[in-house]
Amino acid sequence: MKSNNLIRWKQNLDFKFPPFYQQPAEPDSVIVSERGTYHPRNTLNHLTGKEWIHFSRSWFIHKPKPRDKKKGEDLHPAKYPEDLIARFIKFFTKKGAWVLDPFCGTASTLVAAQSVERNAIGFELSEKWAEIGAKRTNQYVILGDVHCIDTISTLPKFDFCISSPPYWDMLDHSRGGSDSTQKDRIAKGYDATFSTLEKDLGNIEDYNEFLDTLLDIYSKIAEAMKDNGYCVVIMQNTLKEKQQFYPLAWEFALKMREQGSFSLRQEMIWCQSDKKLGIWGYPNTYISNVHHHYCLVFQKTKLM
Ligand SMILES: C[S@@+](CC[C@H](N)C(=O)[O-])C[C@H]1O[C@@H](n2cnc3c(N)ncnc32)[C@H](O)[C@@H]1O
Repeated sequence: MKSNNLIRWKQNLDFKFPPFYQQPAEPDSVIVSERGTYHPRNTLNHLTGKEWIHFSRSWFIHKPKPRDKKKGEDLHPAKYPEDLIARFIKFFTKKGAWVLDPFCGTASTLVAAQSVERNAIGFELSEKWAEIGAKRTNQYVILGDVHCIDTISTLPKFDFCISSPPYWDMLDHSRGGSDSTQKDRIAKGYDATFSTLEKDLGNIEDYNEFLDTLLDIYSKIAEAMKDNGYCVVIMQNTLKEKQQFYPLAWEFALKMREQGSFSLRQEMIWCQSDKKLGIWGYPNTYISNVHHHYCLVFQKTKLM
C-alpha cells in the first residue's frame, strides 16, 4: 500500500517536502501561438491574454465528470471537481508553484495541482479521507488539525491556497424533503458527515465559534503564504431549521477583510446546473434550491 506521501502531524515534524516540479525559465519576448499572446511580463501565470479573459468572467457553470467509484471518489460527502480546481490553479500560479489546501478531504486539490505541474500540500483531520487522498496522488497529505500549521517549520512558503472548508455543521442537519442528496447518501450507506472528531470544524455547533475558529486558521495560513499570494475559499450560505438563513459566505468574507491578514478582492460564482431539484417549501413557502457556491478571492496583504 502506497503511503509515503501521507505525513502524520507530530510536534517537531521535520519532513522536508521536496518539490516535484520546478518553475520553467521565462521567455524574454512575447510569444504568439494559436493559444493567443503570452507576455513575458506576466508574473501570475502562463496564460495568454485570450485565456486570461476567458477565466475572468465572474460566474461559471461547471458540469463535473462522474465520480470514479473504483478510486473511492464517491465516498467523501463534499468532494469538489478536480478540473474546476485545476482552472483556478492555472490562473493563480505558475508551474512549480506551491499550492496549499488546508481542508483537503480526498485530495482533489492535490490531484488537480499534479495534473498542471504544481506542487501541493493538503491538511486533513480524518484518517479515512487522508488515506484515500494520499492514494490518489503523489503530493503531500498531512494527517492532522490544520490549526497546527504554524508548528511545522519545514513547510515551503505557499504561492496559492484553495479550499472548501466545512460549511459550518451543514452536513449534520436536515435540509428538507425526500429528494435530499444527503438522505440518498445515508440510504446507500455512505458517510453523511466528515467525522465525529472534536477538532472537525463541521462538528462545531455554535455559528460564531465556527467563524472565529475558521478565521484563526486563515490568519495562520496567511503567515504560511508568500506576500501577494492569492487565497480562494469556496463556500455557500446556509439555511437552517425554521428557515433561519445564515449568510456564511458573506459574513466570512467581511470578517476576513476585518481581520486584515488578507484583502478581499472579488467573488466568482460557481453555478451547478446538473444537480437534482428538490421541492422544499411547496405549496406555501419560498425555499430555493441552492445550486451555487461562492469562490471568494482574497490576497495576502503585504505588511508595510
Ligand atoms: C468540504 S471538505 C473538503 C473536500 C475536498 N475539497 C475534496 O474534494 O475531497 C472539508 C474537509 O475538512 C476536513 N476538516 C475539518 N476540520 C479540519 C481540521 N481542523 N483540520 C484539517 N481538516 C479538517 C474534513 O474532514 C473534510 O474532509
